[in-house]
Amino acid sequence: MIKSSAKTSNAGKILKKVLAPYRNLVVVGGNWGDEGKGKIIDLVMAHYEVTVRFSGGANAGHTVFTSDGQKLVSHLIPCGLAQGKECVMGRGELVDLRLFLEELEQSKKVLGGKLPKIYLDQMSPVWTPWHGLLEAWLEYVRGKGKVGTTGKGIGPLEGLYKLRISPLVGQIFLGKKELVGILELLHKTLLPVFKDMKAKNLISGSIPTPTDVADMLLAFTPKIKPFIADTSFVLHQASKKHQRMLFEGAQALGLDSHFGTYPFVSSGNSAAFGAAVGTGLPMQNFDVTLMVVKTLPTRVGAGPFPSEMWQRQEAMEFVKKNIGLFTDKQKKAEFLQERLQKINAQKASNAELSQYFQVLGDERGATTGRGRSVGFIDIPWLTYAIRVNGPKWLALTRFDMLSGIKKLPVVVGYKLNGKKLLPGQLPTPWDMEKVVPVFEQWPGWSENIYGTDNESSLPKSAKAFLQRLEKHVGTHILLVGTGSGREDIVVRQ
Ligand code: GDP
Ligand code: IMO
Ligand code: MG
Repeated sequence: MIKSSAKTSNAGKILKKVLAPYRNLVVVGGNWGDEGKGKIIDLVMAHYEVTVRFSGGANAGHTVFTSDGQKLVSHLIPCGLAQGKECVMGRGELVDLRLFLEELEQSKKVLGGKLPKIYLDQMSPVWTPWHGLLEAWLEYVRGKGKVGTTGKGIGPLEGLYKLRISPLVGQIFLGKKELVGILELLHKTLLPVFKDMKAKNLISGSIPTPTDVADMLLAFTPKIKPFIADTSFVLHQASKKHQRMLFEGAQALGLDSHFGTYPFVSSGNSAAFGAAVGTGLPMQNFDVTLMVVKTLPTRVGAGPFPSEMWQRQEAMEFVKKNIGLFTDKQKKAEFLQERLQKINAQKASNAELSQYFQVLGDERGATTGRGRSVGFIDIPWLTYAIRVNGPKWLALTRFDMLSGIKKLPVVVGYKLNGKKLLPGQLPTPWDMEKVVPVFEQWPGWSENIYGTDNESSLPKSAKAFLQRLEKHVGTHILLVGTGSGREDIVVRQ
């Protein structure tokens, strides 16, 4: 570990200066999720007053380590919570009230009982057990082509909302009669599906009636009431007061329903423009975007992943079958040491390389615990993600994972049907499986950079690696993650 004293405040000072001109910052993921958005948001949050989630729901899992080393995984509540900043759950969020209340309790425990002000939008779609049933049905009907969702009802929540038959958070305060009426429309629409599911033994027990669902939702009202707000108005007022706001993206561009790898996507707008869609703030409020990119991208669930090292299913199974390698410190250390030697002797297969990085990065989903499949750095994908998200800066997380690797294959181009694609050009998702990546071998470095917190302490070849990457993607890498802690970060001027 290369660590210098008092560099945390130094990083903070640089960031303060860099971020000062930008009152409203949008932070989004550039790959297929789990880039480390939580850690980066937690870091830059010191320079903002309000955090706002604008899309997704409990499918997100954002990990933050507090300064006393406690782990906080936020799903629905923005992770500015860990810094005690005001939290707004914008209208674009999809809300499971039970999970929201559970997360509140959990966060209280981790943060010592005191929570900042949290606002929950009165017009966000609200989860019911029917959403869970519909999701199970959709995956069942897809069979082998299933999306591999997180099982949090996200597709049905967004889809039924767009069909204009969704109950909304604030409607649970209308009284039982009116609520049952609203739920009846949804129930009537879905009943033929539920009957079919029942006939196929896909539902055990009885199908909840509108009255059952209303009772379930009504039970939440006393606990939920203090949080309910018109968040669009709350944000408008914050904007009038010139408060500094950070818009927290969930998922990532590859999972955006319009610009990701449809249909293997989530259902919301996780691209930067989603911040406007999901908050109701005018476009001119969004000053600047920071895109978080994972040095070695990962994917859970199904769908195209051109730079993937190994087969998805095998990679996910590997984690399940070898859990000891992830949980037993000694086993892990021995495995990594042996495998690194093999990799550097150029004797490791791509499957073995994938296994090395999966174990090293503990690549297990923060929401579902499923194994994540790992890919090589993918410059054509990043160029596309930059084109759509328009970030001023990148935050490159997990750079420490390359420590000790002598040479790393990097995808520098895509070929489709024998033709090289132009920078920023992306094939349709159904053609993406046919993409042939063009590789270059980039030299790595031997030093362990875990925990490095200033640029001058990085090995020369690590700096050269960053500059080479920056040149390819044409965007400044402002932050470089070197570990999971708040202070494991390099700020590049
Ligand atoms: P998110 O969904 O984008 O917020 O990311 P997750 O929290 O699901 O997953 C990111 C994981 O990477 C978490 O376990 C983080 O603690 C960890 N992490 C974030 N940045 C770094 C980094 O720079 N280096 C290392 N080694 N781990 C990191
Ligand atoms: P964060 O915010 C990684 C993936 C699922 C599945 C697809 C659709 O932590 O980066 P859904 O349940 O949303 O309908 O599933 O999207 N997925 C994520 N993968 N990180 C996430 O969130 C994800 N949210 C959804 O695995 O492939
Ligand atoms: Mg995550």
